[in-house]
This record gives sequence, C-alpha cells and structure tokens, in this order.
Amino acid sequence: MGFVDYEVKGNYAVITINREKALNALNSEVLEDLDKVLDGIDPDTVRAVVLTGAGEKSFVAGADIGEMSTLTKAEGEAFGKKGNDIFRKLETCPIPFIAAINGFALGGGCEIAMSCDIRIASENAMFGQPEVGLGITPGFGGTQRLARLVGPGMAKQLIYTARNIKADEALRIGLVNAVYPAEELLAEAEKLAGMIAGNAPIAVRACKKAINEGLELPMDEAIALEEKLFGSCFESEDQKEGMANFLRKKDDPAKVKHVAFQNK
Ligand code: CAA
Repeated sequence: MGFVDYEVKGNYAVITINREKALNALNSEVLEDLDKVLDGIDPDTVRAVVLTGAGEKSFVAGADIGEMSTLTKAEGEAFGKKGNDIFRKLETCPIPFIAAINGFALGGGCEIAMSCDIRIASENAMFGQPEVGLGITPGFGGTQRLARLVGPGMAKQLIYTARNIKADEALRIGLVNAVYPAEELLAEAEKLAGMIAGNAPIAVRACKKAINEGLELPMDEAIALEEKLFGSCFESEDQKEGMANFLRKKDDPAKVKHVAFQNK
C-alpha cells in the first residue's frame, strides 16, 4: 500500500518503506501508511517481521526535512508524537522485528531501527543522529533509545556532534548485531526471521515482553515479571509438545522430529 509494502512469506513478513526517490524519508504519509501496515499484521500467522528500505542506497534517511522546515513549536511537538506513537507501537508489538539496514539510517531512520528488536546492517550502511546540525533534537525517540542501547556517553557524543558512523563502528558500539555484504543482507534477515518463526510463538512473545518491560523495572520486579511470563507458557500445547519432543528424543534418538509449533 502507498509508501509501505507488506509481504507475508509463510510464517514471517517483510515490511519495506518505499519512497526511494527521497531515500525513504519519513513524511506524514509514509508514517500513516506504516501505522496502517502495523495495524494489519495478523499475529496468528506472522511470527517475525523484517523491516527494510527500498533500493540499494538507503534504509530511511530520516524524517522529511521539507515537511518539518515550516512547522511551528506546537506542530513540531505533534509531529514528534506522531512518529513516537508509531515507533512505540512497533516496539511493543508482541512480534519480534528485525531491522535490515540497507544504507542510510539517519535521524528518524536510526530511530526506527532502534525501535526494532534486532538490527543487522549492510556494509554500506551509515548511522547517525544529525538533528543538531539542523537546529533540532532527535524527535522520534533517539535521545532515549540510543542512550539505552550504546550507553549515555557514546549516545551524547554521537548526538552532540551529529557525526555519522559507518557499519563497522555501529557494530563495535553495539548499535547493530552483525554486518553483511549488501547483497546478502535481506536473505540473512529473512533467515533470522525464519529461525525465530520456527520457535514457540507464545514463548518468543513472552521473552520480548520480559526483556522490554523488565529493563524498565528494578531487578526484584523484573524477575517477578519473568516468573509470571514463564508460568504463562505452561499448559500451552506448544510447551507440552516441545517438552514431550525432547523426552522422546532422549528415549530414542530415532524419534527426533521438528516440532511444528501451533501458537496454542
Ligand atoms: N528529508 C527529505 N528529503 C530527503 C531526506 C530527508 N531526510 N533525505 C534525503 N532526501 C531527498 C533529497 O532531498 C533528494 O531529493 P531530490 O532528488 O528531490 O533533491 C533525494 O532524497 C536524494 O538525496 P540526496 O541528493 O541528498 O542524496 P545524496 O546521496 O547526495 O545524500 C544523504 C544522501 C547524505 C542521506 C542526504 O540526502 C542527507 O543528508 N539527507 C538528510 C539526512 C538527515 O539529516 N536526516 C535526519 C532528518 S531529521 C530527523 O529525522 C528528525 C527526527 O529525529 C524525527
């Protein structure tokens, strides 16, 4: 649809931000299309999502500077909220998201990648929060998620200097998990999505919730949250079959089989 493509490939999906002539920059229309795509994901069939950008040059080159250039203070705040609400929807969606960063991930592009669960990049990827060079702060969560991901000292240096970094440096500071040649990136992202989608969905989703929500809590409350989510997996068909499969294997290795988890 519009500026955002959505393709279901078996038990995972690929979302492609597709405004290539503007390097996939996020204007209001792109954001609204993305919001609709997120609302349309069917959690009964889709167990992992790959997010990428159209073309070979850019993942997302940021929020649309032309659109932002004439905003008032109130409109600027509303635009920030619009992006933040959608990125938060993505971040709290129970299904894991993998950002396949195939080029520029600047400003809002770096910010949407940081809203995903896992980030992998192509060798030509470039990251940065260039906002202070434009006279604004990062506005779609960059000050918060970058500091949480790479630590406040490194985040402050990157944000205050507006310096862009290449994929190898992003890997070194922990902003991405892996770097691949450009032509291999999407296949690697889909391989990861397939591996995640092959595991018990109820358990994977509980892990996402435990990690995301637990990181915001003091340790005693965080482990209590884990206990609840751990308990919530029991009595599910997938838990029973996953464990029965292990016990059958122990009994007789010839009985090894792949468990087709049912999301039940
Ligand atoms: N907004 C609007 N249009 C953009 C854009 C953006 N963020 N980034 C690129 N484009 C457009 C360019 O205007 C250009 O359009 P035209 O062909 O109509 O002129 C087209 O995409 C191609 O871009 P370039 O010609 O500039 O390509 P390049 O290869 O020379 O440079 C680039 C690539 C280094 C990414 C450069 O385009 C650039 O610096 N873009 C802006 C990056 C940026 O500052 N992003 C942060 C935005 S602020 C933000 O995101 C705030 C927030 O936190 C919410």
